[in-house]
Amino acid sequence: MEYLLDSADVNSIKEAVELYTLHGITTNPTLISRENKNYKKLFLELKAVLKGKDFHIQVTEVTFDGIIEEAKLIKKLVGDSVYIKIPVTDDGFKAIKYLSKNNFLITATAICNVNQAVMAALCGAKYLAVYINRITKNGGDGPEVIRAIKKIFIDNNIKTKILGASFKSISQLNISILNGCDAVTINPEMFKKMLFSEITKKSVGKFTEDFESVYGVNTTGRNLIK
Ligand code: E4P
Repeated sequence: MEYLLDSADVNSIKEAVELYTLHGITTNPTLISRENKNYKKLFLELKAVLKGKDFHIQVTEVTFDGIIEEAKLIKKLVGDSVYIKIPVTDDGFKAIKYLSKNNFLITATAICNVNQAVMAALCGAKYLAVYINRITKNGGDGPEVIRAIKKIFIDNNIKTKILGASFKSISQLNISILNGCDAVTINPEMFKKMLFSEITKKSVGKFTEDFESVYGVNTTGRNLIK
């Protein structure tokens, strides 16, 4: 199981790298534009913060030739280990197939149905970013799409990783993980929410309180409960 941060915000990524075991980050043109910085410098800044963890960068071009050109520029700038995110349009499938055969690591993205996922895997993608909330918001069932993809992949021994993306609730996230995501990418706000429990917080407070009510201070000599 892999957890990725869906963000281009350097501070959030720095914090997550320090606190947790993060597998990497995913970005998209919207997330990059939100930072409103020189995007080439931003890519290099993010690469430095990631210290070798996976980095997925999405193309902005939409034609086959444009996607190939952009993928080459991204790889030259960021390095061989970068994952090029390509949306599953007609030109996108062609580019996924071409680039995968030519030693690029590809993440097929904006996947909203089972057949897009299977086709992207057959074209050579290493990861498939499935847009859970966007599917659900449009009348489908995001986590169920994950279940269907997983079953087909198991039945056909397909090794491409299913990357759940576009989560808007913890229950969407949890059900998608149970249904077979190999990896999930989550925005910084939800990342914090997913790891928080009021019960944990209260339990820890009570442990300290009980100890200090008898000994006055904790084992380091400090008093945490004033
Ligand atoms: C994933 O790769 C995408 O960047 C992302 O999850 C899209 O999420 P959104 O629907 O919240 O924009």
